[in-house]
Amino acid sequence: ATTLAGAANISGRYFGVAVAAGRLSDSTYTGIIGREFDSVTAENEMKLDATEPNQNQFTFTNADRIVNLALQQGKKVRGHTLAWHSQQPGWMARMEGSALRQAMLNHVTRVATYYRGKIHSWDVVNEAFADGSSGARRDSNLQRTGNDWIEAAFRAARAADPGAKLCYNDYNTDNWSHAKTQAVYRMVQDFKARGVPIDCVGFQAHFNSGNPVPSNYHTTLQNFANLGVDVQITELDIEGSGTSQAEQYRGVTQACLAVSRCTGITVWGVRDTDSWRSYGTPLLFDGSGNKKAAYHAVLETL
Ligand code: XIL
Repeated sequence: ATTLAGAANISGRYFGVAVAAGRLSDSTYTGIIGREFDSVTAENEMKLDATEPNQNQFTFTNADRIVNLALQQGKKVRGHTLAWHSQQPGWMARMEGSALRQAMLNHVTRVATYYRGKIHSWDVVNEAFADGSSGARRDSNLQRTGNDWIEAAFRAARAADPGAKLCYNDYNTDNWSHAKTQAVYRMVQDFKARGVPIDCVGFQAHFNSGNPVPSNYHTTLQNFANLGVDVQITELDIEGSGTSQAEQYRGVTQACLAVSRCTGITVWGVRDTDSWRSYGTPLLFDGSGNKKAAYHAVLETL
């Protein structure tokens, strides 16, 4: 195959990219997306502040630009994200308690219903666990509504869009020996045991020199898959350049390919200059849209 999606499709996987609505008038950008990828994630446009800027007033204009472009081109769409402590609209950020719980569930229901049938996987809940060694939930206004907020969100999402795979998505969950990884694992294990509707776990996979691709990455992905969920690499970027960056991209690709339930990889942007990271050249295309060594490593590994 000569494209990332074409190569991923050989083993039944997808290869996706985060897309920003504000860049869709750039033909180099849209050209690469059209050619190389078969799944898209809205980088910001489906987040809570974007879709419900005022309570109960939903706006999907920018998200729809991305969704419609993707569906017209026969691509899949990953939904990101229905419930998160970050990028909440001001009205929600100021809420607590049962009013917030109701508002969160209403948001999940309304957004998932609007996109019913168009989303292959939803990041229902994003980043709900704390960093460090505690293994605890992250403190947030959502967490303070009660520890069951995550399962409540998943049940609401399932009711609204029974055809979408429902994912829990987080970062720093790549290294099997880390407390955060273990804590998310125990939550998924508990959800499966109690019949809470969860289908997949997303690994954001934002890597850099202080947080490199762990040597046990394959173990992590396989252990989660063994719980009976799909795993997906959802926001991949790796700071660096040249051969060393390419070999890390190769390692992530190999880890996914080695796990039959690793169903796809999404990179978090097209060109280095599109990255949310202003430094570190973390993506597969340079600022001019040329394929980097990392691109070739991924393509030949898929
Ligand atoms: C980032 C976007 O890329 C930025 O444009 C925005 O300013 C902040 O959010 N984890 C996630 C993504 O789940 O939603 C974040 O995206 C990156 C980290």
